[in-house]
Amino acid sequence: MLEVAPPPASAGRPAPMVEDAVAEFRPESRALPRFYVWTLGCQMNRSDSEEMAGRLLASGCAEARAMDEADLVVINTCAIREAAEAKVIGRQGELSRLKTANPSLRVVMTGCAVREMDFERLDHRFPAVDLFLRPDQEPELVDRLGLASAQGPVGVTGATTIIGRTAVGVADALSGTRAAAVHAGAVQRHSSVSAWLPIIYGCDKTCTYCIVPFSRGPERSRPFDDVVEEARSIAARGFREVTLLGQNVNSYGHDLEPQPRFQHVRTERWAGRRLELGSKPDLAELIRAIDGLRTADGETAIPRLRFITSHPWDLSDRLIEAMADCPSVCEALHLPVQSGDDAMLRRMGRQYTIEHYRERLDRIRAAVPEIAISTDVIVGFCGETEAQYESTLRLLQAVRYDQVFAAAYSERPGTPATRLPDDVPADVKRRRLNELLALQEPIGLERNRGWLDRTVEVLVDTIVPPRSHDHQDADEPIAPAPRLRAGTEAPGGAPVRLTGRTRQSKLVHLEGPAGWLGSFVDVRIEHAGPYALRGVATSTGAAATAPSANLTA
Ligand code: SAH
Ligand code: SF4
Ligand code: F3S
Repeated sequence: MLEVAPPPASAGRPAPMVEDAVAEFRPESRALPRFYVWTLGCQMNRSDSEEMAGRLLASGCAEARAMDEADLVVINTCAIREAAEAKVIGRQGELSRLKTANPSLRVVMTGCAVREMDFERLDHRFPAVDLFLRPDQEPELVDRLGLASAQGPVGVTGATTIIGRTAVGVADALSGTRAAAVHAGAVQRHSSVSAWLPIIYGCDKTCTYCIVPFSRGPERSRPFDDVVEEARSIAARGFREVTLLGQNVNSYGHDLEPQPRFQHVRTERWAGRRLELGSKPDLAELIRAIDGLRTADGETAIPRLRFITSHPWDLSDRLIEAMADCPSVCEALHLPVQSGDDAMLRRMGRQYTIEHYRERLDRIRAAVPEIAISTDVIVGFCGETEAQYESTLRLLQAVRYDQVFAAAYSERPGTPATRLPDDVPADVKRRRLNELLALQEPIGLERNRGWLDRTVEVLVDTIVPPRSHDHQDADEPIAPAPRLRAGTEAPGGAPVRLTGRTRQSKLVHLEGPAGWLGSFVDVRIEHAGPYALRGVATSTGAAATAPSANLTA
């Protein structure tokens, strides 16, 4: 039923593997496939999967509930650590068995583990896969499967660039294909409450441990007006929250053309350097424009605006000012530090020092009161001594992050760090990771306890399915199930378990009618754990109504 078409004529280099797949790709029936997208990795991947699923739905395919009910499995891979790739390798046997049971099943693999220009090696490691697509080739999915598409032509990729000694695909075409997908309504968003909005593809940083620049190529910013247009369509559909996505959103715009309307965007200063922005839009300009979208009654059209991820070296004064000025920008910032030691940061190629990093933190904490700060840390990077690792622990104690995402260093083939010995033994990495997480847990608890007895605005985004009621999440504070207060049995049905987030991105458990999904609810916090809060609704909040008809500029 599925035919894998060769790549478009002008699409860079041919993928030899695909030609072989075509030969064995004989239609079993004329029905369109039911597809299942298996997504690993970060929000960027999840956003890309929304676009692929949207394209498949627009071409008439239906979504399967599970992998074993599908005729087409799309695996959107992550390669950030070896374990992420191993997960996909580990399921090749299962996929092969599914293919034996269902001979028309086809498997497509894309995402960051597909980074070679030549797919031959991948063919050996992922034998169940019929078609490989690099991240920059994802818009070709529907055409390459020979599926009639309701959309216009996707255009072609085809640009390559050399990073180190590796040729990678370049996201030159993605801005155009994204805009077309949004225009055609071919993005299947994961939630009706909160939307992702990619603003910049790829990464220009050279963090020595990181595979992303090799998987996703150099940075390409989406045109300013395209992003604002997508935000407008997100607002018109009634989403309450938007998260701007990029590997380094803080460098948004540097590759765009200067324009007279941005002539006020000139020099930028922050600790350690001065930058000439030269009349190009930056992230500060972009969030001001999205924040400026208003309903007819003057409310922000999208009440909550977030962005991820911010590289500390590019966190500008202009951005901090915009965050402080814009009412929709949430009081939360993910600012990955990676290590608390300057020598390690140099070896990691992170560009900033701890002094610079902390200067940025002080500035943002002064400008945006009660901002929640989270970070990423790598332990056991090449040559990390016990004393250097302890500097990271001291940093955590001093900064008091709301949340820390920590990982043990995992060597990635082809990255600059492979030239350094990966010399911290696995058991030492593990011990450091566990110690660090144990140190952070009471800090997270202390930060969360600061919210006890306060009333916070929660955007309800999840109805907890009944079967997960049976056991208490490790994350949840141990507490008796809360009762709804009198007056909160609002229209919308019997109380169920709900979760939502505060503006500081704190996870809050509460009870209320399912009809509260997508609403802002005032919640009095009664219990705090290290990773989540629990509270009782004191109001039914604002209903999730689409402000479509009322949108102004
Ligand atoms: N662009 C984002 C992060 C993307 S990857 C940024 O710069 O912050 C997410 C996190 O994975 C990184 O912050 C880092 O902590 C971790 N990571 C990346 N490469 C890794 C590796 N080789 N081993 C272990 N952790 C890694
Ligand atoms: Fe990787 Fe560094 Fe780019 Fe983040 S900024 S994606 S860690 S290279
Ligand atoms: Fe993984 Fe690629 Fe994201 S490597 S973390 S899916 S950018």
